[in-house]
Amino acid sequence: MRRLIILSLSLVYLVLTLGCSSDEEPYVPPLPTDPPEPPEEELQQPGTTYWWNDQVFYEVFVRSFMDDTGDGHGDLAGLIDKLDYLNDGDPDTDTDLGVTALWLMPVVESPSDHGYDATDYRTIQPQYGTNAQFQQLMSEAHARGIQVIVDYVMNHLSNEHEWFTAAAANDPDYEDWFLWRSSNPGWEQPWGGGNVWHRLSSGRYYYGVFWSGMPDLNYTNPAVEAEMLDIADFWLNTMGVDGFRLDAVKYLIEDGSILQDTPETLEFWGRFREHLNTTAPNALTVGEAWDDTDVVIPYVEAGLHTCFEFNLAQAIITAVNSGSSSSLVSKVDQIIKGYPYHQYATFLTNHDQRRVLSQVGNTSRNKLAAAIMLTLPGVPFLFYGEEVGMESGWDHHDVRRPMQWTSGANAGFTTGSPWNEVGSNYQTNNVETMQADEGSLWNTYRRLVQARVASDALRRGTYHKLGSNSSRLFAFLRHDQGAAVVPIHNVGSPSVEVVLSATASQLEPGEYTAHDLLTGAELTGLTVEDDGAFFDWRPVSSLAGLASVLVALEPVDP
Ligand code: NOJ
Repeated sequence: MRRLIILSLSLVYLVLTLGCSSDEEPYVPPLPTDPPEPPEEELQQPGTTYWWNDQVFYEVFVRSFMDDTGDGHGDLAGLIDKLDYLNDGDPDTDTDLGVTALWLMPVVESPSDHGYDATDYRTIQPQYGTNAQFQQLMSEAHARGIQVIVDYVMNHLSNEHEWFTAAAANDPDYEDWFLWRSSNPGWEQPWGGGNVWHRLSSGRYYYGVFWSGMPDLNYTNPAVEAEMLDIADFWLNTMGVDGFRLDAVKYLIEDGSILQDTPETLEFWGRFREHLNTTAPNALTVGEAWDDTDVVIPYVEAGLHTCFEFNLAQAIITAVNSGSSSSLVSKVDQIIKGYPYHQYATFLTNHDQRRVLSQVGNTSRNKLAAAIMLTLPGVPFLFYGEEVGMESGWDHHDVRRPMQWTSGANAGFTTGSPWNEVGSNYQTNNVETMQADEGSLWNTYRRLVQARVASDALRRGTYHKLGSNSSRLFAFLRHDQGAAVVPIHNVGSPSVEVVLSATASQLEPGEYTAHDLLTGAELTGLTVEDDGAFFDWRPVSSLAGLASVLVALEPVDP
């Protein structure tokens, strides 16, 4: 209180003394001659993109996709049968989803249903088929313009793998392929809690960051590194894949009790990349570094081509659930500034997460989330069944249920008894029913995927956030060598007026016509000033709640 009184008295004194300089001219602030300059906007400069930037990927769990043999498990023959559903290779048809690349969750021999614990890295899981069938899948996919990458789980394998059983039996050839201790050092999983040292009946402990069924390989042993690089070459050169989704890249090499993100791990990925540069220079690597953006970026800098952007996925879901775009806008800003140009993989959810429809609660929000993801830069990945609104909780079995093809028995997945029960909404949410409904989630995904695949601006273009009249609007300009698309997303429920501006842009000055990229409808055109700026642009008078419009711009006098 005393301090407040002293402060007030000093202020009064200051005002009186300033006001009492009677013989000096009173201070008159100068009148502004020009309107204040808007702050200069930083424009993303165009950068190099690669074949993967032109794709829309689709993550397939073979066991749950399509069963051809009738044993209740999905298989490679079933996937081959369904390639035309994914992309029939003809851009003029609209019966296919239009995705241009696949990520197959592990397809190698393994005792588990998920396959993240190999018992043989060079043999196809017998329930899925044979190596020859896999090669057939590759040629059938390539014939339709579909690229294929496979999950490669390098950090760990099954405790039933013969390398591990040999090492556990003290075979000197394999002893040093794993990490051993005579007593438990007591370290815990970096993401919280679980034990990482597992006891054998002989009393020795081996290291496995995920669980006892998945011993970690010892990458400080050069023989391990050499063998795992050789397996990579086998998949790229003999099986013919176009790249890898690399599992658990954070955990490869431990440094004492530091179990993740060690400098040795980052250096390993640099060597892995150098190796691929010589044996398969066009191969893609997509790393799973499940962490915050600032932890993920060093993996791309170290040598992985791209990594999944988990934070962005969450920011999109949060935006559509909260009705505010502000944290999404700042996340995209961080990503644009932090990664090499467009070298990150975007997605909404994957096989480890509750399905997107269940996280956002309704189809309109799901459509909006998909529209945001498929119009942002990066390499987009869909998860099988996302396009028909499969639902789930967080349990892995629930997330990985059979694909919902029809409203018939077992959702059309198998004529046998499905290995995992079909989801409860399959009678309404299935491919056959939703393909027949123009307004369905499936048709929305199809239109968005096809629009992206057909648009240089959406796949490769720079990103520039536009000013708007509402924090519910997320509007940005995608620009590539004159081609320009402005996706506008209303993340709120009420409809909003749309007024957009930019104090700079890479658009050439002049007049532009505008149309809706998805429907072809004509919209209000745009005048771009000399410096690329534009103000008070109202391409549509209002945008409905949870809706998107993709505005394509064409110069009037190119
Ligand atoms: C991450 C995978 O996505 C997950 O499904 C798997 O269980 C762990 N890595 C261990 O491989």
